[in-house]
Amino acid sequence: MLAVVLALSLAAFASASPVSFGQLIPRQDVQSPINTSLPNVTIFATGGTIASKGNSNTQTVGYQVGLGVQDLVEAVPEILNISNINGYQISNVGSGSINETISLKLAHMINEELAKPEISGVVVTHGTDTLEETAFFLEATVNSTKPVVCVGAMRPATALSADGPLNLLQSVTLAASPAGRNRGIMITLNDRIGSAFYTTKNNANTLDTFFSTEAGQLGIFINQVPYFFFAPVEPVGRVVFNVTHVQDLAQVDIIYAHQDMNPMLFNSSVSSGAKGIVLAGVGAGGMSSKANAAAEAVYNATGMPIVASHRSNDGFVPASDEDFTIASGFYNPQKARILLQLALTAGYEYNEIKETFAASYPMP
Ligand SMILES: *[C@@H]1O[C@H](CO)[C@@H](O)[C@H](O)[C@H]1NC(C)=O
Ligand SMILES: *[C@@H]1O[C@H](CO)[C@@H](O)[C@H](O)[C@H]1NC(C)=O
Ligand SMILES: *[C@@H]1O[C@H](CO)[C@@H](O)[C@H](O)[C@H]1NC(C)=O
Ligand SMILES: *[C@@H]1O[C@H](CO)[C@@H](O)[C@H](O)[C@H]1NC(C)=O
Ligand SMILES: *[C@@H]1O[C@H](CO)[C@@H](O)[C@H](O)[C@H]1NC(C)=O
Ligand SMILES: *[C@@H]1O[C@H](CO)[C@@H](O)[C@H](O)[C@H]1NC(C)=O
Ligand SMILES: *[C@@H]1O[C@H](CO)[C@@H](O)[C@H](O)[C@H]1NC(C)=O
Ligand SMILES: *[C@@H]1O[C@H](CO)[C@@H](O)[C@H](O)[C@H]1NC(C)=O
Repeated sequence: MLAVVLALSLAAFASASPVSFGQLIPRQDVQSPINTSLPNVTIFATGGTIASKGNSNTQTVGYQVGLGVQDLVEAVPEILNISNINGYQISNVGSGSINETISLKLAHMINEELAKPEISGVVVTHGTDTLEETAFFLEATVNSTKPVVCVGAMRPATALSADGPLNLLQSVTLAASPAGRNRGIMITLNDRIGSAFYTTKNNANTLDTFFSTEAGQLGIFINQVPYFFFAPVEPVGRVVFNVTHVQDLAQVDIIYAHQDMNPMLFNSSVSSGAKGIVLAGVGAGGMSSKANAAAEAVYNATGMPIVASHRSNDGFVPASDEDFTIASGFYNPQKARILLQLALTAGYEYNEIKETFAASYPMP
C-alpha cells in the first residue's frame, strides 16, 4: 500500500490522512503494527532535498523533488525500532514554494497531533532554503511542550554521502525523546540541534549551513542520541498565536537596503497590498536618507508598521523612541516578516506590535 500522493492539491489537504507503514513492519521484526512500549512520532513531509533524487550519485545541484514520506521511512528502517511512525504528506515541493497555505496547514495539524496523549513528538521534513521560516512560523503558532523537530538535507538521497537518512533518524530520535520537551521548535541537521528562533541557513551549498552565531546550539547528537548543553529553556520573548481558525495571513513584504536603493519600493509595496513592511536594513536597520524619507512618508500616510531588521546574518536592531520604524531586535528579516504577519493577522495595534518585537531583546 503506497498511499502517499506525491503532489497534493489544496482539496487533498482536507482529506490528508495518516499513512500507516504496515508494509515496513517485517523490517522492524515485530508482530503487530504498533509496539505499545515505543513512543509514537508523526512525520509531516513537505518535500525538499531530503525528498530528492539526482541523475547520478555525484549530482548535488539541479536535482528533482519526488520522494514521498513512505520512501523516506523505507530508507531508514532503523527509525521503526525506536518509534511507531505515522506520516502525512502535506506537500512535495522545494521549500522556495512553501507558502502560507502549507504553513498554516502544518500548524493546524501539528497542534491537533500533539494534543493526542499517545503522541510523543513530531518531525517536519522540509527543504533547507526556507526551513528556518517554517520552523519559526511553528515556533509562533504551535502550543505544546512536546518536541517539534524540523529537518532537511543538503544532499539528495541519491548522492554519495547523502545526509538525509541520518538527519531523519536523529530527528525522530529527538522527537521521541523526553529530553526534547519544553525547548520550543528545533532544527536538526549535520549532528546539531538548534533553536528555530535563532538558527539560520548560512551557506547555500555546504552541509554545515545551519547555525546561530550568537545564541549558539542547544545541543548535538552523540551516537544518534540527543545531548543538550542546557536544561530545558524557551527563547526569551517567544509569543504563541492561536491560529486555529486562521486561513490566510496579512501581506508583509521585505525590502532589501543597499547603496542607491530605490525609495519607491515602499510605495510599490503599499499599492500592491502590503499591510506591513520589513526592511532588511544596512547595519542595525539603516537605509539611505532618500529611502528613509520615502518610508517615513508612507508611514505618515498609512500608519502601517515598518519593522527595521538587519541584512547582516546576525546582530540586533536596537529600539529607538524617535524613529518611525519598529526595531526588529534579533529577528532577521524573514523571521520578522512572519512575526509581523501573525501580529497583524491577530489584529494587534501598533504599540502591541512594537512590544511583541521588544520582548525578545534587552531594553536600554
Ligand atoms: C500554496 O501552495 C499550494 C500547493 O502548491 C497551492 O495549492 C496553494 O494555492 C498555494 N497558496 C497560496 C496562498 O498561494
Ligand atoms: C517493542 O519495543 C521495546 C522497546 O524498544 C522492545 O524491547 C521490544 O522488543 C519491542 N517489541 C517487539 C515485539 O518488537
Ligand atoms: C503509542 O500508541 C499506542 C497506540 O495508540 C499506545 O498504545 C501507546 O501507549 C503509545 N506509546 C506511548 C509511549 O505513548
Ligand atoms: C531492530 O531491532 C531488532 C531487535 O533488536 C534487530 O534485530 C534489528 O536488526 C533492528 N532493525 C534495524 C533496522 O535496526
Ligand atoms: C496554550 O495552551 C495553554 C494551556 O496548555 C493555554 O492556557 C493557552 O491559552 C494556549 N495558548 C494559545 C495561544 O493557544
Ligand atoms: C483559539 O481560537 C479559537 C477561535 O478562533 C477558540 O475556539 C479556541 O478556544 C482558542 N484556543 C485557545 C487555547 O485559546
Ligand atoms: C512625518 O510626520 C512627522 C511628524 O508629523 C514629521 O515630522 C515628518 O516630517 C513627516 N515626514 C515626512 C517624510 O513627511
Ligand atoms: C509615495 O507614497 C507617499 C505616501 O502615501 C506619498 O506621499 C508619495 O507621494 C508617494 N510617491 C509617489 C511617487 O507616488
